[in-house]
This record gives sequence, structure tokens and C-alpha cells, in this order.
Amino acid sequence: MARKKIALIGAGNIGGSMAHLCLLKGLGDVVLFDVVEGLPQGKALDLSHAGPVEGFDGDVIGTNSYEDIAGADVCIVTAGIARKPGMSRDDLLGTNAKILSSVGEGIKRYAPNSLVIVVTNPLDAMVTLMKRVTGFPKNRVVGQSGILDSSRYRSFIARELNVSVNSVAAMVLGGHGDDMVPVRSTCIVGGVAVEKLIPSKRLDEIEARVRNAGGEVVALLKTGSAYFSPASAAIRMTEAHLYDKKEILPCAALLEGEYGVDGYYFCVPVMIGAGGVEKIIDIHLNTADKKAFDESLNHVKDIVQAMDRVLGV
Ligand code: APR
Repeated sequence: MARKKIALIGAGNIGGSMAHLCLLKGLGDVVLFDVVEGLPQGKALDLSHAGPVEGFDGDVIGTNSYEDIAGADVCIVTAGIARKPGMSRDDLLGTNAKILSSVGEGIKRYAPNSLVIVVTNPLDAMVTLMKRVTGFPKNRVVGQSGILDSSRYRSFIARELNVSVNSVAAMVLGGHGDDMVPVRSTCIVGGVAVEKLIPSKRLDEIEARVRNAGGEVVALLKTGSAYFSPASAAIRMTEAHLYDKKEILPCAALLEGEYGVDGYYFCVPVMIGAGGVEKIIDIHLNTADKKAFDESLNHVKDIVQAMDRVLGV
């Protein structure tokens, strides 16, 4: 069987980390694309030198030309600028909307049958734009948000209780902004509801930290935003697709009536398999979570409107 082809659009911090993960996990051949000359080629050459050490045979090339992504099975988009201290994800809108418009055109032309996973922020607006520009069906344009946000929640809970991260399940839903919704009722530790294990006031603090975790990393790094964990999250989606796992993962998907939302990308649990987003899973939200969910949706609506103003739509 021929190896799968994974195109990484943006060869910066997340792009480079994803390339490494794809090769280590043997997911297929990797094409690193960037507008900066030399950057994707240099990273590809460096990565290829890790092959004999790690024992991977996947091919990796760096390029500045879209022709090289031709026929890709998956395109993961991180092209754009990242946050600096003091910036919100929304502050990236003007610059990244223009970049994503051109990236969408390149993908539409050269990888028309691919699954497109958008990582660039502000995520909910950027994935909306990618859907519009490519015109791909909704099952093939999806945003990475909730796997990372949920992973941050799981990681903090695991540390709090000194248990394995594998024993903690949790989902963070809604927009990928500071008003994301850690859904406490989905947080289960070894089969036990987290509310039985950690006092409610402490859970409030942990959830506040989850919402600000991206900003916490930015404040420490000073020169950019998180990249190891977003890379892992996007590659988890890629694996679910390439291996037809039918895995239920929180991702930004286009809602058309589900959760009472129509026409917006929003993070909810979805099933990812060979068909991309094969199903949207409707879980019951309690009144408080639904209220937070709706507030987060209002923010997503605002950012999409702001994007339309930027693009003159
Ligand atoms: N086409 C392709 N690549 C581009 C383009 C473009 N039109 N414009 C910029 N890039 C490239 C940059 O040259 C850079 O190498 O995108 C890359 C972005 O890499 P980083 O600056 O290292 O940012 P990274 O940490 O990878 O984050 C990328 O993902 O999570 C989001 O908020 C984050 O929006 C940011 C994005």
C-alpha cells in the first residue's frame, strides 16, 4: 500500500513539531510548505537525518510551492502569525485571515480531496474561512481546538490528584477563546465524577487555569505560543482519520442545527474516521454549561463578523 501524504502548511513551530510526530509515528510522507524560503527545506533536511536514528522511512520534503502538496490526503494548516505576550487569539485576525485565504486557494487547487485540519488562530474564524474558500464539504474541513483544551484540563486534574493522565477523561467545548467551556460533568477520573474527588472551589480555579493555559504559555515563552501540545492534538486527529478509528474527539465542526447552533464552527464531540468528521455527537449539557456554551458562541459570532469586515465580505 502506498504511503499516505500529509501536507503541513506552515513550517514554523507547530509545523515542524507535527512533521517530527508524523515521521516518528510512521503516518506517511510529509510535505512541509512555507512562504519563507529555506525554512521548510532546512527543517525537512534536518528531519530526514533523524530517520536512521529513529528507524523511520517516511519521506519528508520542504517547499515554497503549492504544486508539491498535490494529492495530499491530509492538509494541516498552521500558516500565520502566533501570539505574543499581551495578545489575545483575536488580535491575530487581520493578518491570519489574509494568509488563510491564500492557503485555502492553494489547497483547493492542489489537494482537492484532502481532509483539512485548521490550527491557525483565531481558530473558529479561520476554520470558517477555510470552509468558505475551499468549498469542501463540511466533513472535510475541521478545526483543532478541543483536543488541546481538553488535554490541558486532563493534565491539570491528573496533577492535582497525582494519577495518570490516562485515568482522566474530560472535554472542553465551545469556542477556542478564553470563554471556552470545560464541561465538568464530562470530567471522570477512573470512572468517578471529578466533583466527588476535588472540591468545587478548587475545580473553579483549575478550570480558570484551563481557559487561560494558552496565555500562560505565551507569557512564559515571550516569543510565540504553545506548539508541542497543539502539534500532538492535530496529529491525533490525523491518526483517527488515516486509521479510520472512528474516535470521538472534541473538534471545531460546522454545526447545522446540532446544539441549537446553525452555520457556525464550534467545538463539540465529533467522530473522526476515514470520512473526516463522520458524525456530530450531541451530548446533554446542564443549564450552567449551556449558558456558558451560548456565551462562547456569541463571541464566535462576533469574531466571524469581525473577519467579514476585515475581508470586506
Ligand atoms: N503560507 C504558508 N506559511 C505561512 C504563510 C503563508 N501565506 N504566512 C506565514 N506562514 C508561516 C510563517 O512563515 C511561519 O513559519 O507560518 C508559520 C507559522 O509558524 P510560527 O510563527 O512558528 O507559529 P506556530 O507556533 O507554528 O503557530 C501557528 O497556529 O496555534 C496557532 O496561534 C497559532 O496562529 C498560530 C498558528
